[in-house]
Amino acid sequence: METQEIEMNIMPRIGDDAPDFTATTTHGQLRLSEFAEGKWVVLFSHPADFTPVCTTELSGFAKRKQEFEALNTKLIGLSIDSIHSHLAWVNNVREKTGVYLDFPIIADLDMKVAKLYGMLQPNESETAAVRAVFFIDPYLKIRLIMYYPLNVGRNMDEILRVLEALQVSDEHKVALPLNWKKGDQVIVPPPKTLEEMEDRIQDDSCEKVDFYLARKDLNLN
Ligand code: BEZ
Repeated sequence: METQEIEMNIMPRIGDDAPDFTATTTHGQLRLSEFAEGKWVVLFSHPADFTPVCTTELSGFAKRKQEFEALNTKLIGLSIDSIHSHLAWVNNVREKTGVYLDFPIIADLDMKVAKLYGMLQPNESETAAVRAVFFIDPYLKIRLIMYYPLNVGRNMDEILRVLEALQVSDEHKVALPLNWKKGDQVIVPPPKTLEEMEDRIQDDSCEKVDFYLARKDLNLN
């Protein structure tokens, strides 16, 4: 119980600086802050190499890598496996399915990075990382975190959807409603003062349910 409390206390949260680290990966030694090169980073963990759900998930990341690149985003995976296991698994997946897991995968045998990011959740597993996804912005801030258990795979459409939503929100200073996807209307941030409320009531440039719920088109293509 005590161990669990300590580990929970150091779990990074939304808005925190992404803890920096150096790690051994399938692309050699790297440091997160240098790897990022001013881009977004999606850092994700999987429980173990040579397991079925993980194989579908990492193949999913590899197949859609170009979509992440189009969103100025680099991918980096992690599991508590050796570099030899990673290399053998990457080669096996390529031989069996033709999919090449060509983004770096951290070999986190000492669990250093998994612990740093709260990927090790002892009541789920003491030795395998849960399925975590950290969305890290170009300023190396954590912007969104997903945690999935060992037995349920993630949804790649959702991972790409929220990445794009974060970027659209930043660029246009808007919020994104339920199930938002590119092309949908966005939410104009609600007024924070009476003066802003009066302005919004008079504002005909957006579609209003009321002053606090207003939508507009961004005309993104
Ligand atoms: C899997 O990827 O299939 C898996 C890995 C660890 C535990 C359960 C399932």
